[in-house]
Amino acid sequence: MQTNVVSSPLADVACDWLILPVTQSGEFPANVAELDEALDGRLARLREAGDLTGKAGETIEIRDALESGPLRILTVGLGEPARLSRAGIYKSFMAAVRKISTRAYDHVAAAVPAVDAIDRDRLAETVALALQVGCVGQGLYRSEPERFPFQRISVASGDDAAGIRTVVERGAVVGEAVNLARELINRHAGEIYPETFAQRAQQLATEYGLGCEILDEPQLEQEKMRALLAVGRGSVRRPRVVVLEHRGAPDSKEVWGLCGKGVTFDSGGLSLKTNDGMKSMKADMSGAAAVLGTMTALARLKSPVNAIGVMGLVENMPDADSFKLGDVLTARNGVTIEVMNTDAEGRLVLADVLAYTVDRGATKLIDLATLTGACVVALGEEVAGAFSNDQPWCDAVLQAAGRAGEDLWQMPMFDSYAEQLKSEVADCKNVGTRWGGAITAAKFLQKFVGSTPWVHLDIAGPAFSDSSKPHQEGGGSGVMVRTLVELASNGA
Ligand code: BES
Ligand code: MN
Ligand code: ZN
Repeated sequence: MQTNVVSSPLADVACDWLILPVTQSGEFPANVAELDEALDGRLARLREAGDLTGKAGETIEIRDALESGPLRILTVGLGEPARLSRAGIYKSFMAAVRKISTRAYDHVAAAVPAVDAIDRDRLAETVALALQVGCVGQGLYRSEPERFPFQRISVASGDDAAGIRTVVERGAVVGEAVNLARELINRHAGEIYPETFAQRAQQLATEYGLGCEILDEPQLEQEKMRALLAVGRGSVRRPRVVVLEHRGAPDSKEVWGLCGKGVTFDSGGLSLKTNDGMKSMKADMSGAAAVLGTMTALARLKSPVNAIGVMGLVENMPDADSFKLGDVLTARNGVTIEVMNTDAEGRLVLADVLAYTVDRGATKLIDLATLTGACVVALGEEVAGAFSNDQPWCDAVLQAAGRAGEDLWQMPMFDSYAEQLKSEVADCKNVGTRWGGAITAAKFLQKFVGSTPWVHLDIAGPAFSDSSKPHQEGGGSGVMVRTLVELASNGA
């Protein structure tokens, strides 16, 4: 998709569709009033008739708008001006974009809403982001496509086109990073497995100028990543670890380690999942996909941080040679783990990945993982959980999520939760009881980060959705890419 910024009056923007935001009360802003003049007052009449209320979620199609300007207009209601948020505006634009991307259109433009309380740059970025993400679907394998990416998108800014070009491009880059994560999640496990995921990472690293190392089995042995290797033992798809490197702050000693759970398929292993539990487990690499998407965006935006992205890639399968219940694994950092459930595999993968990332010199850690069903029970399907050993670092991540408009909620980390992990034969077990399962998983991970400030993001809920909503396509969501890029935009 080609992204442009236009400053001409809305009535002069020649495009197939113009997405026109409207709020619930107040006069039309100047640019909309001007457009309405060219439309001979149609918008005002729609408003008087009670059709164009501007309520959040309302859309109205005007299909014969202007011959020499926007051919069609889709108004999108944003709700009450006083209650507008970036997240709400993003959702409204996503719903609008999803409405019109069901047919192939060459050029779609969107007007930046006039909202005094929100920085205009952020608004323009949000609009560009929604234009990128909303027109890409999950129907990768349909012979009849049901969603059509736009060829060209324009953000109509009023008179300050040059001023917002950078932020619009930024929105587009972040949108592409989200779409990359979504695509990798949506591809089935016959296509995306550790080796092919790693190849894709390598290609992207070359394209965008990231350092890239791929560790294969002998190297993983050498690095003592025995917990990760145990998980992968039952699969013909052999494990890999990918390390991507971005140096955006050469004068800083800070290095962020972004670690991703990349279980390309989670059958549960010998602790086999049910059919229902397994259906969406091609998405169990959503953490690694988010790390990959984020790293490409950091490189393209030249974000002022140093970051290494470490992705632990394995397939968890039952097999004659699978790791077993009762096995005792020695993780990279020497901690011994009694395996009591082979379906609690993500934490075994991350144990080694986190310890390795600390040894590679990371000064701060964030891991992303579809780690526990318990986190979905606790927070629902749309909210990610944050778990941390360092409140200032956790606050920075929570605030970035707030600015990016992604819902993230901090969970407690009392030491008492770790009691559940005590083992009679080893340093710990890999599962606790039924209760507080998202937190005991986080307490398990904590054993592998030492004293490095760390935030664990459990994205089991929002990473993947079976069904579409007006503002979001089903399938992989690319959740937390926006948050991490936002976090990095301020520097370390
Ligand atoms: N990948 C799953 C967690 C998951 C569940 C992600 C549902 C997305 C949706 C993870 O590997 C897993 O199986 N966790 C177990 C842990 C249990 C055995 C302690 C779970 O949540 O049931
Ligand atoms: Mn599992
Ligand atoms: Zn899993």
